[in-house]
Amino acid sequence: VEDGYDLWLRYRPLASAVQTRLLPRATELVVAGDSPTMRIAAAELERGFSNMLGHPLPRATAIGRDGAILLGTPAGSPEIARLGLPLARLGPEGFLIRSMPVNGRTTTVIAANSDVGLLYGAFRLLREVETGAPTERLDIAEAPKVKLRLLNHWDNLDRTVERGYAGFSLWDWHKLPDYLDPRYTDYARANASIGINGTVLTNVNANADILTPAYLEKVKALAAVFRPYGIRVYLTARFSAPLEIGGLKTADPLDPAVRAWWKAKADEIYRVVPDFGGFLVKANSEGQPGPQDYKRSHADGANMLADAVKPHGGIVMWRAFVYAAENVEDRAKQAYSEFKPLDGTFRDNVVVQVKNGAIDFQPREPFHPLFGAMPKTPLMMEFQITKEYLGFATHLAYLGSAWEEVLKADTYAKGKGSTVAKVIDGRLHGYRMTGMAGVANIGTDRNWSGSHFDQANWYAFGRLAWDPELSSRTIAEEWARMTFSTDPKFVRPAVGMMMASHQAVVDYMTPLGLHHLMATGHHYGPGPWVGDLERPDWNPTYYHRADANGIGFDRTKTGSDAVAQYAPEVARSFADPNRIPEKDLLWFHHLPWDTKMASGRPLWDELVLRYGRGVGTVGEMRATWDGLRPYVDARRFDDVASFLAIQHKEAAWWRDASVAYFQSVSGRPLPEGAPPPP
Ligand code: GCU
Repeated sequence: VEDGYDLWLRYRPLASAVQTRLLPRATELVVAGDSPTMRIAAAELERGFSNMLGHPLPRATAIGRDGAILLGTPAGSPEIARLGLPLARLGPEGFLIRSMPVNGRTTTVIAANSDVGLLYGAFRLLREVETGAPTERLDIAEAPKVKLRLLNHWDNLDRTVERGYAGFSLWDWHKLPDYLDPRYTDYARANASIGINGTVLTNVNANADILTPAYLEKVKALAAVFRPYGIRVYLTARFSAPLEIGGLKTADPLDPAVRAWWKAKADEIYRVVPDFGGFLVKANSEGQPGPQDYKRSHADGANMLADAVKPHGGIVMWRAFVYAAENVEDRAKQAYSEFKPLDGTFRDNVVVQVKNGAIDFQPREPFHPLFGAMPKTPLMMEFQITKEYLGFATHLAYLGSAWEEVLKADTYAKGKGSTVAKVIDGRLHGYRMTGMAGVANIGTDRNWSGSHFDQANWYAFGRLAWDPELSSRTIAEEWARMTFSTDPKFVRPAVGMMMASHQAVVDYMTPLGLHHLMATGHHYGPGPWVGDLERPDWNPTYYHRADANGIGFDRTKTGSDAVAQYAPEVARSFADPNRIPEKDLLWFHHLPWDTKMASGRPLWDELVLRYGRGVGTVGEMRATWDGLRPYVDARRFDDVASFLAIQHKEAAWWRDASVAYFQSVSGRPLPEGAPPPP
């Protein structure tokens, strides 16, 4: 039964005509060298080719016939070195795949500077075959454009997952280190197949216990499983750990005893896990401890930890997701206000990790004003793969297109063309470190991600971390072909449905730049009316500001002036209600209900119709999926169909609740074409 466990690595038998065409190019496998990583690459090629071709891929020690696949590095194999391949510019993780004669035999060569490059190359060749690409004259040279490509697990030590909708944490702390669940290996393999090279095992709302010796032994065991897949392990560091597990009286980052404690802790970690990646830290945000508890800055805190891991080659990822209840400044402005003045004061092994937008992973946010604003501090992107604000696992929302929108946004930091992608991949400011993190959507569910289509978001994250300028449509196509079917009659409609899905969610939850209208706490379902939370910045009314006259958050000069945090060109466009894209309108403007929109309709009517449009799109997605039954196995077809039915019902719930609430405020009649009240 197809239950989704195999993800996009299904390797189902190809059509026999395709097998016949391919067989002469997969006659044998020659692995020039040996290492744990090379063994994994070879096993993957054997598994993939033999399943897809229905014919074993035999191993040979030297090329003896046409159609061999040859795998190796120049350092590990004189035979590869002799080929004189242009590998130098591909760096430590890149690879080259080339159809060429070797010893007079037609051969497919996979070459790289490192074994992990070979593993990436092996997965890439398999993807070519799995997606139905021609493999006769291959000439692929690729290297990742971003160095740190990390998953952030918000996994707690009791195996609950904060904002996780796919079961419990994969990490079975109780049975570690002695029992290694085979799933750890499958997890590493899936990540390696899309180029993810690091994993932060624990929640940003950290528990200091993870840094104690008993847990470090468990971390060591996981690191050993992940290592041959090119994946390093990172941990979240709770800033107050010196108090909680160190017996100190303070966690002041300038206190010599505290600094010594962290240094000793880092030394201890590296004794246990020599290639430990480093720390991820959430500090002075949402009640977490941090350097400001001691009147020190974020840089003081980050630099202390950076000094501790520096001798071992470790890094610190310090999160810019900071805001405080006591702070009366517009929440959207607080991270910039805090971090911008610190530019240039961080150690060279610190990266500041910035969420895509300034609030919190809303269905749509304008890009974060910090991108482009910290030329002297490497900034890495934080996306949320798990769908905290997008309907959890039952609502189908392909996030590739949402992320592409952010990455393509122009910061104008150095004039036109200064896209967020260029900030992230280091080109704009010449960052020495580059990175992208994704808050994982993975758990113990059989299908890993809570739904079949949520696997696409894991996949798309990996692909965009590898190359932030990839097209989300291309990524969706790859994924759909590998995960379901290469039949164009399936691929075209399925990809169309994916590409429309994010906008649908935006429409039925938070159209026209609205944000944070979800029910309190769990964030599932509508709750724009809540107005009595102890923290004003957790109230939806703080964000939409709807009243009898109008709706939206004035972030121009007459309001919070958050627009001033963007480069002048961007600020001018955001500040002008006639120039700002409608999708971001109410993020920056409070406007009268009868403001005329691009459609010619008044804002009130437009808002109501957008809610309806979102529900309509989900209806179309259902119809599309129904038509795809012939191409999908029964189990996965039914899973998706029933989730789409839930989504359809709940999209209508979102529409009806939101429209009814806003109508109670605006006092306006429903426009023509709006569905009648339930
Ligand atoms: C959101 C989320 C929290 C999480 C926080 C963070 O606010 O709701 O659960 O801890 O983001 O990113 O730190």
